[in-house]
Amino acid sequence: MNIPETIDRNRLPQHIAIIMDGNGRWAKERGEDRVYGHYEGVVSVREIVDACGALGIGYLTLYAFSSENWNRPKAEVDALMELLVNTIRREVDDLNRNNVRMHVIGHFESLPEACQTELQEAIDITANNTGLNLVLALSYGSRDEIARAARLIAEKVAAGTLKPEDVNDDVLAQHLYTHAFPDPELMIRTSGEHRISNFLMYQLAYAELYFTNVHWPDFRQQNLYDALHNYQQRERRFGKTSDQIQTTKPDHA
Ligand code: FPP
Repeated sequence: MNIPETIDRNRLPQHIAIIMDGNGRWAKERGEDRVYGHYEGVVSVREIVDACGALGIGYLTLYAFSSENWNRPKAEVDALMELLVNTIRREVDDLNRNNVRMHVIGHFESLPEACQTELQEAIDITANNTGLNLVLALSYGSRDEIARAARLIAEKVAAGTLKPEDVNDDVLAQHLYTHAFPDPELMIRTSGEHRISNFLMYQLAYAELYFTNVHWPDFRQQNLYDALHNYQQRERRFGKTSDQIQTTKPDHA
């Protein structure tokens, strides 16, 4: 894989999060059913996973199905779940060979049983891998995640194992689905919308946001390199001044 020289490999984000939007519009523009866009979107997933692995990115989180996506027509939901099961089944050996470790965040129990089984198998098979951590956000919503964390904390307070005065932002983060992952430094959203759409709202507090008009099925390696190049042009200040950043290294760099 040819990584362009414009990318500084020493200043890559450790964690990239992506809202893969525009599959439906991409298909419609071609006079095809929306589901065709999702099929082609899987090809982009594959390319971006490979590219992140080759770059040595630590974590890639993909928003594959939101808690709100359950409201789509049943035929589309069914097609997406089937596509997910078939893709995982087909790709798991390759993921494993490429040292990718798979994770899922979201309300796992609300996924169809076949989906849960396939995902759990992929999680188990890849559990000892040490390369890219591929995190699929499925039946995921940030508000649900934060409410769940609050509930878990409340249970500990009620049981007397946690004091209310000890609840701080770190404690909250430890009860999110993402507790074992660093926060994303770069969030990419495709297809022209400039929204967060209930995705990792807590974790994206300091992330650089990158929006592109390219629909997800057209988002390939070169588009990822463009996003990384753009990211590397930015100055991440974490509330400090520009002068402070130029003389000290930011805590979260
Ligand atoms: C958004 O496009 C896309 C989704 C809701 C699904 C994304 C899923 C995939 C790419 C396949 C999942 C596969 C794996 C293995 C992770 P949209 O349908 O909202 O497009 P629109 O905004 O143009 O209607």
